[in-house]
Amino acid sequence: MINDKTKICGSIAIKQSELGSIMHNTAYNNLGVNFIYIPFTVSHCKSAIEGIRALKFRGCSVSMPYKQEVMKYLDKIDPVAQEIGAVNTIVNDDGVLTGYNSDWIGAIKALKEITELKNKKVVLVGAGGASRAISYGLKKSQCNKVTIINRTVDKGKALADDFGFEFGGDIEKINEVIDYDILINATSVGFFPNENNSIINEKDLKNDKVVMDIVIKPLETPLLEFAKKKNCKTISGYRMLIYQALFQIEKYSGKKAKFEVMEKALLEKLK
Ligand code: ATR
Repeated sequence: MINDKTKICGSIAIKQSELGSIMHNTAYNNLGVNFIYIPFTVSHCKSAIEGIRALKFRGCSVSMPYKQEVMKYLDKIDPVAQEIGAVNTIVNDDGVLTGYNSDWIGAIKALKEITELKNKKVVLVGAGGASRAISYGLKKSQCNKVTIINRTVDKGKALADDFGFEFGGDIEKINEVIDYDILINATSVGFFPNENNSIINEKDLKNDKVVMDIVIKPLETPLLEFAKKKNCKTISGYRMLIYQALFQIEKYSGKKAKFEVMEKALLEKLK
């Protein structure tokens, strides 16, 4: 029941999705803590942060397009979020707002369910905020080699330079990228309502690799369907989403939520 003791968490984005509230509220109910999570459609980032302080929210997730802008309004930035250059999690400790990044944790945990990362060769497609977070995780995981591929060459090169990776060229070059163990799509290509698109054609995918797609809806993107036909192990984007939310829930409530409980609720919605 919502009462004067209820701790409020939220999310801010220009376009909201219900997936965050499904995961968080399911977890809080299951943990038996008096928390609620509310998605807010926000068009003014600075005012929203003032609102977090004024209304004493316990925490807040940050989504597109505010993951960078939000950093200048917070009191502290975790060094990892600073290195990534993006915040997706705000924790309010008695009025002191600290920004964290849990996207990289989500991605690396989802990958490690299926594969080792140390000494592996990775192709990472995309150079946006998600790619930056994943890049941090790949570097920390001591991959052998990471090659960035991106449509906009300057952005791809800048990301590769920031993390000491190679830049492999634009999307057309993807079939020429030699020898990888793991391929990650960190672009939005394939996301509902353009769910028939794939960043890579079936013919350009290699056999017997690991393929991860950060796209959440649909669960089975064309890229993952192609990858299965090529006998690749596949990782769906929803697993990264749950793992990054587990970090947030622990930061907000101090409790460890159950992956399976959140997964069940999320898959019911996505199927
Ligand atoms: P996010 O923060 O979620 O990563 P973003 O910063 O907008 O989102 O980045 C989206 C990524 O998807 C970018 O790498 C973008 O490529 P550009 O740098 O060329 O814009 C990539 N992307 C989006 N739509 C694309 C498309 N139709 N074809 C190829 N790449 C696309």
